Amino acid sequence: MTQLNVLEDFPILKQTDKNGNRLCYLDSAATSQKPEPVLRAMDDYYHTINANIHRGIYHIAEEATAAHENVREKVRAFINAGAASEIVFTRNATESINLVAYSWGRQTLQKGDVVLLTEMEHHANLIPWQLLAAEKELRLEFIPVKEDGQLDLEAYAGLLDMRPKLVSISGMSNVLGTIPPTKQMAADAHQAGALFLLDGAQMVPHQKVDIRDIDADFFAFSSHKMLGPTGIGVLYGKQALLEAMPPFFGGGEMIKKVYLRSFIANDVPWKFEAGTPAIAEAIGLGAAIDYLNAIGMDHVSAHEENLTEYAIRSLLTAPGLKILGPLNGKRGSAVSFTVDYAHPHDVAQILDSENICVRAGHHCAMPLHDRFAIPATTRASFYIYNTRDDVDRLLTGLEKVHRLFG
Ligand code: ALA
Repeated sequence: MTQLNVLEDFPILKQTDKNGNRLCYLDSAATSQKPEPVLRAMDDYYHTINANIHRGIYHIAEEATAAHENVREKVRAFINAGAASEIVFTRNATESINLVAYSWGRQTLQKGDVVLLTEMEHHANLIPWQLLAAEKELRLEFIPVKEDGQLDLEAYAGLLDMRPKLVSISGMSNVLGTIPPTKQMAADAHQAGALFLLDGAQMVPHQKVDIRDIDADFFAFSSHKMLGPTGIGVLYGKQALLEAMPPFFGGGEMIKKVYLRSFIANDVPWKFEAGTPAIAEAIGLGAAIDYLNAIGMDHVSAHEENLTEYAIRSLLTAPGLKILGPLNGKRGSAVSFTVDYAHPHDVAQILDSENICVRAGHHCAMPLHDRFAIPATTRASFYIYNTRDDVDRLLTGLEKVHRLFG
């Protein structure tokens, strides 16, 4: 079953424009669409058991608490973490990385310490470290990206000689589709005495993840890119690390005891979850995990690999088109490209007139675009609901761009 047929489950994708063109959504790297069971789970929650959690002793509050905590266990199983207490709910992957920078980083890193990133990081795995570097006088170093979009692993080996305290990299580039050898890189980082943070925002939606096998110390991802709602994300952290880290936000929920001038922090993971959490969103995330599990992550990956290979092969036939990132081999389903006759914003606008949604710009990765000396790209990114028909529509749309601008 390499070709999935799940379009029916996604109500938004049934829409057509005034010309009868069905919505062709090719921007799942930005956010995914939501299947009916996810929408229904959130709606059911509000219709039946809406109450604040961990507080009420009446039955719907207890049911809401159980439903929320049950999702923590689902997330644990989904990424094969060791314990549900290692799963912290945040707002998104960005907040998860900020949590590590501000809690672990502020406590642990000292003047002159090296944090090793890559040139292909999303701003979410760049700015938190820049902010901390400015505060603590840290040194940021970068694993280069080669011309073919792969990380320069020889350079990585050399950079590890600098004895970084942290290696923090993306598990899949949201621009290039590059998938680094994360397990090997984590082992190398540990060998050099560094912790390893993996930004899984573009990874978890698309492939089976065994976080204990990869042996990352921290792992960040967002619900909204994996069929779930916006407003909830996950930070996985190894238990001992989370326990040693100070709280990030202060308020209700993250405490055991409060005095006028001090407090005793709650146990992990609640120590990091101040205030009323995104309860309905957690339940939506749980439904998204159920939905992906029912398909099977191996089938999700196989569908996308097949479609991405078809998309790259098709796009390369378009005149003046250049793809950034790996053209073959194991790579993700984000395909960014330029055409030599039109600006990406014009490309996206013409495609939109055909009811085709792509992203144009720097995709929150400006330094990576600088690396390739281009200001912007057009990006088509695929997920389980896309088909070869969508790729064909993209090609037809690009022909129109070529007619108008070529
Ligand atoms: N990180 C998201 C993207 O790549 C927003 O589009």
